[in-house]
Amino acid sequence: IPVQSFDLVLFGATGDLARRKILPSLFHRFQIGQFSDDCRIIGTSRSEMDRHGFQEMVADAIRTYGQPGETSDDEIAAFVDLLHYTAVNARGDNGWQALGDLLRDDAIRAFYLSVGPSLFPDIAGRLRSTGIATPDSRIVLEKPFGHDLASAQALNAALRANFEEHQIYRIDHYLGKETVQNLMALRFANSLFEPLWNSSHIDHVQITVAESIDVKGRGEYYDKSGAMRDMVQNHLMQLLCLTAMEPPARFTPNAVRDEKVKVIEALNPVAPDQIARGQYRGPEGDSYREHAGNPASTTESFIAMKVEVANWRWAGTPFYLRTGKCLRARESEIAVFFRDPPHNIFAEDTGTGGIKGNVLVIRLQPDEGITLRTTIKDPGPGGMRLTGANLDMTFADSLPEAGRPQDAYERLIMDVIRGNQTLFMRGDEVEAAWAWADPIIAGWTDHSNDTPQPYDPGSSGPEDALLLMHRDNRRWRGIG
Ligand code: BG6
Repeated sequence: IPVQSFDLVLFGATGDLARRKILPSLFHRFQIGQFSDDCRIIGTSRSEMDRHGFQEMVADAIRTYGQPGETSDDEIAAFVDLLHYTAVNARGDNGWQALGDLLRDDAIRAFYLSVGPSLFPDIAGRLRSTGIATPDSRIVLEKPFGHDLASAQALNAALRANFEEHQIYRIDHYLGKETVQNLMALRFANSLFEPLWNSSHIDHVQITVAESIDVKGRGEYYDKSGAMRDMVQNHLMQLLCLTAMEPPARFTPNAVRDEKVKVIEALNPVAPDQIARGQYRGPEGDSYREHAGNPASTTESFIAMKVEVANWRWAGTPFYLRTGKCLRARESEIAVFFRDPPHNIFAEDTGTGGIKGNVLVIRLQPDEGITLRTTIKDPGPGGMRLTGANLDMTFADSLPEAGRPQDAYERLIMDVIRGNQTLFMRGDEVEAAWAWADPIIAGWTDHSNDTPQPYDPGSSGPEDALLLMHRDNRRWRGIG
């Protein structure tokens, strides 16, 4: 369904994220016919560039970063026809008038700030004071949304001085991933799982976002963040919220976000002994510290932790979170481990091999899909022997007619135009997540000798992460 006519102003239009993700995503939505004829994308940045130069840059970005095999030169040419460019100085007066003159009165105005957060207040203020932002305009912000509670509060205050909360779209691109949304469908559109979705039936949950890439090329940013700020406070927190939240009364943005905030507010503080931090240490030239350009860095490139959601539904069911760079494989999943049956007629000493346990795995990437591990009778001739078998639904195989799943950015940008905030973080949600993360981070930054444990590139993380589980008589699922 085509969206309403829009003028999308992209600040930071020549930057890395714009070229890799935002512009190719817009192109793919255009390609499938989601834009009405007169939609326009207006690139801005500090650099002087003419319209043609911008069009060339975008065409090149689409050829490099667009979906392989899905781009034709004709379509790219038609798309770049929608593009305009004007240089704007975010911190000065230059360019704002020209930008305002370019915008139409009868189209939705969306301002996408693909720039560092230090520019958010200036740009938001200028958009408002120049009258370029109307009461119906949307403003879209990229992460990181602050680096602690105080900075997130300051950003929220600066935004709210110029925009209403219903106009503010804080992106966490994990919320745009197909399987993440499927988690809500799985839980709330089926009657099968929800009766079991509590501590009486679920032993524990493992949330893993493993990455094989290192931090080369972005060490300067990463070294100030680490895995906790870069991934846990936002992406893993969102996965935890969607897994743990109560069913919202309605599928509306605020009903969903209210329930997520309640999960964050129910989190217990995490004690230092429930956390394992690691830093990859490869052969010369391939260590985190070299990639970060900081030989004494104590920033973690891996973190695992045990998190407790202290409410009626989850008391006694821990959530183990784990994420890191330079691991064996790129693999992200939520694994829900169910308790064994209350009475076990297939105990180990019955010669059956014992029950294998039910695990529901929601795979985010790669091979998005859902698997339910069950115990069945081994079909072989060996009598009553039990074996594990998967009920497997890989979306690409089960639903081939659905075609390529949308990239997270494609979905999220279109939601901005539609005015649907369900998959965006509300201000209080971001602040609640920082309020939880801050004391955890302070727990190690206050102890300067608390250096992360080294781990080998291509491994599944440091030893301490394994111990965290072993202490509880549990094991991580394998990576790769
Ligand atoms: C970003 C982080 O938000 O998410 C990166 O800053 C990380 O460090 C990336 O690599 C992971 O996203 P995805 O979609 O590739 O899992």
